[in-house]
Amino acid sequence: MVLGALCARLASGNTPPATPRSAKALKWRLFKFFGLSLMSDPIISVEHVFKSVTDSTGTLDILRDIDFSVPKGETVAIVGASGSGKSTLLSIVAGLDVPTRGTVRLAGQDLFALSEDDRAAWRAQKLGFVFQSFQLLGNLTALENAMLPLELAGRRDARAQATEMLKRVGLAERLNHYPKVMSGGEQQRVALARAFVVEPAVLLADEPTGSLDFATGERIIELMFELNAERGTTLVLVTHDRGIAAQCHQNIVIEAGRIAS
Ligand SMILES: Nc1ncnc2c1ncn2[C@@H]1O[C@H](COP(=O)(O)OP(=O)(O)O)[C@@H](O)[C@H]1O
Ligand SMILES: [Mg+2]
Repeated sequence: MVLGALCARLASGNTPPATPRSAKALKWRLFKFFGLSLMSDPIISVEHVFKSVTDSTGTLDILRDIDFSVPKGETVAIVGASGSGKSTLLSIVAGLDVPTRGTVRLAGQDLFALSEDDRAAWRAQKLGFVFQSFQLLGNLTALENAMLPLELAGRRDARAQATEMLKRVGLAERLNHYPKVMSGGEQQRVALARAFVVEPAVLLADEPTGSLDFATGERIIELMFELNAERGTTLVLVTHDRGIAAQCHQNIVIEAGRIAS
């Protein structure tokens, strides 16, 4: 009975079928329905990515045939020595840097098939990014920095949401301070609040605890894993911290631009 109703629903679909309904067409619809609901497509898919840069001294191959995927809701640590290509990889996954070759899909969309503007719009919708160097706007207060992505998205609750998130990262007393009077660790927490506040499907963070003392770092990591558990936020973290890497579902080890086997 239930299956019959389901078949009827699937057979009707949203648009009229181009050909008369047949058992074969119905089977195909059933396959697609169950196939799509059972198989979770990766939210991030990095396919044979290469990155080289050329200057007067020659060509440097920064990334060589990087290939991995991340299922929705997973946590991933990218680890490796300094200079191995981790930041370059994260920037490419975010569509902030362009690969020399290869494909990156974010939520099914081939990022580099989009125009730069469309890529920026897709990124704003799906992704939060925490830069190794914070990249706060110096002429905006902590609160204004954290409000910015919400305001760009036209959210009326920007002030309240950003205030709440700054409280969660322990900056309730620093809302109206400018980055230049804040410590590196405080600036890092503003950058995290700015990335968290839009509740992105994917959060990419480049050494998010790099400039924090141990206790603050622990709190920030806890917060990221809370977001992962509460909202299913997919996390991709570049880290040198073995403890953090051990908490993640997947570790990707980069050695001189390649994934170590
Ligand atoms: N735009 C660039 N031009 C030249 N070299 C670069 C550029 N970006 C990164 N590199 C070099 O590529 C290598 C990897 O850099 P990076 O991705 O920042 O490594 P990691 O984050 O693992 O420390 C380094 O040797 C770095 O100097
Ligand atoms: Mg780096």
